[in-house]
Amino acid sequence: MCGIVGYVGDKNAQDFLVSGLKRLEYRGYDSAGIVTLDASGKPTLVKTKGKIIDLEEKLAQNKRDDKIGIGHTRWATHGEPSETNAHPHQVGDIFLVHNGIIENYKELKKALSKYDFKSETDSEVLAALIDSFYEGGKYPLVNAVVQALKLTKGTYGIAVISTKNPEEVVVARAGSPLVIGVGHGETLIASDASALLGHTKQAIYLNDGEVATITKNSVEIKTLNAEPVSAKVEEIETSLAAIQKDGYDHFLLKEIMEQPESLKETLRGRVKIKDGMVMLGGPGLSESELRKIKHLVIVGCGTAYNAGLLASYYIEQFAPEVTVEVVIASEYRYRQAYIPKDSVALIVSQSGETADTLACLREIKKQGIKTIGIVNAIGSTIAREVDGGTYVHVGPEISVASTKAFTSQAVAMIMFGLTIAQAKGVRTNILRPFVNEISKLPEKIREVLDEFNEPVKKLAENYKDYDHAIYLGRDTAYPTAMEGALKLKEISYIDANAYAFGELKHGPLALVDDRFFEFALVPEGELYDKAVSNVQEVLARGGHVIVVTNSKEFDLPVENVIKIKSDIELLAPILMNLIAQLFAYYTALAKGLDVDQPRNLAKSVTVE
Ligand code: AGP
Repeated sequence: MCGIVGYVGDKNAQDFLVSGLKRLEYRGYDSAGIVTLDASGKPTLVKTKGKIIDLEEKLAQNKRDDKIGIGHTRWATHGEPSETNAHPHQVGDIFLVHNGIIENYKELKKALSKYDFKSETDSEVLAALIDSFYEGGKYPLVNAVVQALKLTKGTYGIAVISTKNPEEVVVARAGSPLVIGVGHGETLIASDASALLGHTKQAIYLNDGEVATITKNSVEIKTLNAEPVSAKVEEIETSLAAIQKDGYDHFLLKEIMEQPESLKETLRGRVKIKDGMVMLGGPGLSESELRKIKHLVIVGCGTAYNAGLLASYYIEQFAPEVTVEVVIASEYRYRQAYIPKDSVALIVSQSGETADTLACLREIKKQGIKTIGIVNAIGSTIAREVDGGTYVHVGPEISVASTKAFTSQAVAMIMFGLTIAQAKGVRTNILRPFVNEISKLPEKIREVLDEFNEPVKKLAENYKDYDHAIYLGRDTAYPTAMEGALKLKEISYIDANAYAFGELKHGPLALVDDRFFEFALVPEGELYDKAVSNVQEVLARGGHVIVVTNSKEFDLPVENVIKIKSDIELLAPILMNLIAQLFAYYTALAKGLDVDQPRNLAKSVTVE
């Protein structure tokens, strides 16, 4: 949720801290701060409400050539966005940045009554707790940190420095990601590997329950019980180019437009067209294990959930006797849901760090159920804790609104379903149509994006002033409508909700009036006529309807219709979703909103 950076080395710490925070700003961005120490331990602390650009303005008057420091960009959980609540928090000699939630901070705060707290945050309480064990440097900083963490409940990714020792940074994690970059004569810290790019490709991913003492030439990792941990240095797979805008105005448009290429990466080596088959190695399930699967649980939040729901409609079509249950992680983690033994759980997450999804993974593993990750972020916590998995390989997704990950997650899960069907002996001629369409998708996506980018930009102009929208679809177009509504609401702030077409007359039809417009997905197929009559129901009540269809025959007098000409029929909703993505982007743009960093949100929700 928040961005954490740290530096100790021979170069200017402020430079890395600011550039690193800029890379992480998409993770959370309502306030920010950095602190550096000079060789004598003299601190320079600069914090601000607002964005990194505001921090840079303040730093211009506080330039230092210090060689050690920590920084933070915040998405507020406890206490409003403000300079006082911004991190780093200082208590005594120590400074702390924190990502996560200290759930017992109130009782800890009571026990720390000697401290005069300045902020409303749980993080400042943790800083005070550490200070209470540090006693002005009487004990090593790492010992004080460990003592404090043993008393805390909740999640944290923290970096701590002390004026008493301006050569070391102590970091620790439980539930919030932290990665250590190993450089030459410098060591860097970040909550996401993308902040390290351009400085080092060598990374150590800290695990939950580990604490590291870092200097410019060393990384010493232990568990909270002081057991030594050998540092495993891994190669960061992301490239610097992958996290630039490449000439696009926004990451969101770049990520929408690069879906042909990103989906190709998802499919690479996994589709055997001539055999009409797919081949997913990652899940690591044997043929016999695949054959035994009777029940799939698909777990995710937001877009990941929508991708799972879309995939579930397809999996039911071709995987015999397999029931598919798609659940919202934040709900499922607290249900007493029974999962039959012959189940497999798909854990879907672009970032691989979503707290609710990670919590579900851990609960499901306790029941002895095989967990398969459908994840994008290489080396992320979920990716490392599942039993097996399929990386979707779409490259870094920076914009808060997820687009390319949705397309690839849905297709990856459809391929997982095909893998089960293949193992169960489903005849190739039943599966081949799906495999063929999957293999053609990247090219068809390119055609749709090229043809409709401009028309949708114009279309959005006509609807940007509405306050409400209804998204509609049946069958596989329904989860797609849900995803379209999520896109619009999260970046244009228009109150957009999706309903199954068949549900309209059970209530939502009452909403239809001039305050609303309707965005209806009407794919060809056996339910096409029903969807057409649903559109007529809306028109009869004066609805302002946009229809997206792949039918040449559609001719109802709706306000606008987008006709996709393509031989993709089974997976047509994947193409229709592109229109909804572009529509959301251009609507938010037309409203002059911050497309990549919408208000109140963050890219990776690592707190529950
Ligand atoms: C989607 O556009 C949102 N940014 C959000 O719903 C997101 O999909 C959700 O938070 C899940 O994130 P994850 O895929 O990284 O777990």
